[in-house]
Amino acid sequence: MFKLLRELRSLVSSIAIIVCVCMSLLNQASQKTALVAAATTTTITTATLGGNGTDYLALLSIKAQITNDPMLVTSSWNDSLHFCLWEGEIPHEMGSLFRLQVLNLTHNLLEGQIPANLSSCNNLRRLSLGYNKFIGNLPIELGSLNQLVHLYMNSNNLSGAIPPSFGNLSSLKLFSISENMLEGSIPNSLGSLKSLRYLSFISNKISGMIPPSIYNISSLTALEARVNLLEGSLPQNLGLTLPNIKRLNLGKNHLSGSIPLSIANASKLEHLILSANKLYPRVAVNFGNLKNLLWLSLFEDGLGTGDANDLNFILTLVNCSKLRILSLDANNFGGVLPNSLVNLSTQHHISGNIPVDFGNLVSLNAVDMSYNRLTGTIPTSIGKLHKIQELGFGKNKLSGEIPSSIGNWTLANQLWLEENDFQGNIPSSLGNCIDLILLHLYGNNLSGSIPREVIGISSLSKSLDLSRNSLTGPIPPEVGSLKTLVELNLSYNKLSGKIPSSLGSCNTLEYLFLDNNSLGGAIPQSLSSLKAIEELGLSHNNLSGEIPIFFEKFPFLRNLNLSFNNLEGEVPVKGVFQNASAISISRNNKLCGGIPVLQLPTCAPKKPRKLIIPIVFGVLGIILASSILILCCLRKMRKQSLVASSLMDSSGNISYRDLLKATNGFSSDNLIGTGSFGSVYKGILHPNEKTIAVKVLDQQNVGASKSFLAECKTLRNIKHRNLIKIISVCASVDFQGNDFKALIYEFMENGSLESWLHPVSQTGTTHKQPKSLNLLQRLGIAIDVASALDYLHNHCHVPIIHCDIKPSNILLDSDMTAHVGDFGLARLLQNRNNEVSHSQNSSVGIKGTIGYAAPGNLQ
Ligand SMILES: *[C@@H]1O[C@H](CO)[C@@H](O)[C@H](O)[C@H]1NC(C)=O
Ligand SMILES: *[C@@H]1O[C@H](CO)[C@@H](O)[C@H](O)[C@H]1NC(C)=O
Ligand SMILES: *[C@@H]1O[C@H](CO)[C@@H](O)[C@H](O)[C@H]1NC(C)=O
Ligand SMILES: *[C@@H]1O[C@H](CO)[C@@H](O)[C@H](O)[C@H]1NC(C)=O
Ligand SMILES: *[C@@H]1O[C@H](CO)[C@@H](O)[C@H](O)[C@H]1NC(C)=O
Ligand SMILES: *[C@@H]1O[C@H](CO)[C@@H](O)[C@H](O)[C@H]1NC(C)=O
Ligand SMILES: *[C@@H]1O[C@H](CO)[C@@H](O)[C@H](O)[C@H]1NC(C)=O
Ligand SMILES: *[C@@H]1O[C@H](CO)[C@@H](O)[C@H](O)[C@H]1NC(C)=O
Ligand SMILES: *[C@@H]1O[C@H](CO)[C@@H](O)[C@H](O)[C@H]1NC(C)=O
Ligand SMILES: *[C@@H]1O[C@H](CO)[C@@H](O)[C@H](O)[C@H]1NC(C)=O
Ligand SMILES: *[C@@H]1O[C@H](CO)[C@@H](O)[C@H](O)[C@H]1NC(C)=O
Repeated sequence: MFKLLRELRSLVSSIAIIVCVCMSLLNQASQKTALVAAATTTTITTATLGGNGTDYLALLSIKAQITNDPMLVTSSWNDSLHFCLWEGEIPHEMGSLFRLQVLNLTHNLLEGQIPANLSSCNNLRRLSLGYNKFIGNLPIELGSLNQLVHLYMNSNNLSGAIPPSFGNLSSLKLFSISENMLEGSIPNSLGSLKSLRYLSFISNKISGMIPPSIYNISSLTALEARVNLLEGSLPQNLGLTLPNIKRLNLGKNHLSGSIPLSIANASKLEHLILSANKLYPRVAVNFGNLKNLLWLSLFEDGLGTGDANDLNFILTLVNCSKLRILSLDANNFGGVLPNSLVNLSTQHHISGNIPVDFGNLVSLNAVDMSYNRLTGTIPTSIGKLHKIQELGFGKNKLSGEIPSSIGNWTLANQLWLEENDFQGNIPSSLGNCIDLILLHLYGNNLSGSIPREVIGISSLSKSLDLSRNSLTGPIPPEVGSLKTLVELNLSYNKLSGKIPSSLGSCNTLEYLFLDNNSLGGAIPQSLSSLKAIEELGLSHNNLSGEIPIFFEKFPFLRNLNLSFNNLEGEVPVKGVFQNASAISISRNNKLCGGIPVLQLPTCAPKKPRKLIIPIVFGVLGIILASSILILCCLRKMRKQSLVASSLMDSSGNISYRDLLKATNGFSSDNLIGTGSFGSVYKGILHPNEKTIAVKVLDQQNVGASKSFLAECKTLRNIKHRNLIKIISVCASVDFQGNDFKALIYEFMENGSLESWLHPVSQTGTTHKQPKSLNLLQRLGIAIDVASALDYLHNHCHVPIIHCDIKPSNILLDSDMTAHVGDFGLARLLQNRNNEVSHSQNSSVGIKGTIGYAAPGNLQ
């Protein structure tokens, strides 16, 4: 590796640099949004920064340091051309690196075509260009790289067809070109890649048949072509010609024909995914020999004829004791639901109307048979599938009671049992499923009251939908436990009593439907805390009293249905009430006022004023005061969410709500560390599933706010591969109206250096195996940190002193590159020769961490 590095440097040191520059240039765009945004939050103008200016200077300073530029790469770097047009791609001259063995440029923003000249690097073993923005065709010339073992081009914008010349890459073991825009068919010549193990071109537009020669590559362990336009049928002897295959993933194509019986001979098979094709309806495969099968996915395949024998093939799964995911939904399978999904350690017995046993499938994590035509009942023995996390039997014709043994699925996450014919009560044992995030029982014939154990499952965060049943009684007050729930639907039942005021605790609710019940009384004031609400349905009940004024203040409310109740008094005019199409208030007795379009009578001035004056004034006073408060909060929030939205890069808005969702309500499970200034949570940002780290500042701590400003101010100025990248900033108010400030960073998979050096000293993060760093990694980290510091001290627009370099502030990403983080104490040097600016450090005391702080800091 060192040899390679040296070679690269001595050959054309400039080229490597140009590649970097180019990346930094391209990265600039997204970075800038974040920086400008940070500046806005701190109300510091960016005018003095000069935006592009620093880039220009940076490039010039790089140019100044290049002493040897034999290819004259930087010759165009002069003022006659805007610096954004200065040359910097993968340079064609790369082709001169004929001794190069490994070229890995993944995860950058490189553009342009892949230079054909790379084919001159004929010692190349690994070429990884994935996760860039390359366009154009795959160069035919690359076919001559006969030493190439590993060709990885995922996630670019490559188009055209796979060149037949690639059939000459005789050493190739891995060929992965997923997530591009490739067209045409797979060249027959690829069949001559006799060493190939891994072939993947998921998510392209490749059409035609898979050439028979591909099925002749007996070394192949993975053939992954999900989401393409492939057609034709699978060869009947596939299982014999691909004896090593572990993953056969051809879902979402236009494949036809039957599933080859010879699959049974591919005994190493782990993933068989043929879903979303148009296969022959009968599945006749005997899976008995596939003892390693983990994942069988045949959903949306047009399988099944609707008759009782359709599911017989499941019988042969008894030996697949490792099977974890069985996905057969949206087919046409008929017959009775597998009567006993149990671990029959004794031989499975099959009797008259029990056509199927799942046998040893106790490892099953997920079964999905939704959207079929299953009949019969769910057997009690299903409780033995105690590892179930997801189970879908929704939208079938199942009947009988829901067995209480499903309370044994303590790991269950999502349960879909909706739209069947289930009767009887909702089993209260479901309350044992303390990891449930989604429960769908809607559209059945369930009766009785809602068990308090079930509505109190506090883990429910996605959705609880019990609508369209015959549930009676009141809504149990335990509903208040649903503190992270987004959707609650209890509509179309026979629920009575009042709306429990505890419902106000469910302050992450975005969708709440209680329509078509017999709920009475007034709408509780406590609902004023449901600030996240977007759609609210209370129609067709017997609600009385006035329309609460606080509905005006829900910033996201866009659909409010109060029709068919007994509401009276004045209809508010602000917020959602400004838009007649967003509200429905018809068929209430005595409503008045509102916006003119509603054509309601004007409200009569209240007569018995004298008696009530003190009370009215008192109440008015309180309302006024709280409205002013709320208004202030709202204005602040609006202002700050404006700020916040200007912060975002292309990943979209990051609001308090998004963060709440991403971190599962800032749950302690996601807590990855706490520091003097707040807590850091891991989160997954929807919809793009990006993993982030969220540093929430402790608002009680006065220093935290300063730290936030300092960090924004600092990070605004800088950008370097060894500095932690800030994705966004969120300054808002939370649903309780408190100030909320958070910094959102890229998630660093390998945690802090501290956790590697002193694994026990870290609380909260228990590591499965002891970590250790080898010498090279240590050296690498040292170089990374040194580069970051060098950059901060010598190459920033304004030099920056971090002031708190210590292992816990050095974070490691997935490939162990070190990133310096936590700029809460950083100082900017106004002028290179000036004294340290004291502006942020007026308070006396030690800055930094004892043991790491420089002596000069201990003033
Ligand atoms: C940066 O460069 C772009 C492209 O030339 C230009 O539109 C923009 O105005 C420049 N911004 C600054 C601050 O110079
Ligand atoms: C600047 O770069 C352009 C484009 O490479 C070149 O034509 C021109 O001669 C250069 N000018 C100077 C002064 O070097
Ligand atoms: C491609 O490489 C060859 C030598 O390997 C060189 O002569 C040629 O100039 C290169 N082409 C480009 C466009 O750099
Ligand atoms: C593969 O290489 C051989 C000889 O090196 C050459 O004749 C042939 O044209 C190449 N095949 C393709 C499809 O480029
Ligand atoms: C597959 O290999 C067999 C024997 O190795 C050969 O007879 C057959 O022609 C090959 N099929 C294709 C399509 O290459
Ligand atoms: C393939 O599997 C079938 C059924 O399991 C078996 O009868 C046959 O002998 C196997 N063929 C080979 C070549 O292993
Ligand atoms: C399951 O495995 C046992 C023993 O290996 C074998 O006797 C039985 O036939 C297998 N069942 C099926 C359905 O293949
Ligand atoms: C499931 O089967 C295994 C072995 O076949 C046996 O050890 C285990 O006790 C069985 N579990 C139950 C719940 O029957
Ligand atoms: C459910 O678990 C209980 C103990 O928690 C056990 O007694 C019962 O047999 C289990 N039911 C089923 C159907 O597995
Ligand atoms: C709530 O339930 C009703 C009745 O099942 C249904 O019409 C409505 O679409 C549901 N709302 C949501 C958001 O799912
Ligand atoms: C509706 O509520 C009123 C009291 O507000 C009550 O008198 C009436 O009986 C209720 N109607 C029904 C159908 O529950």
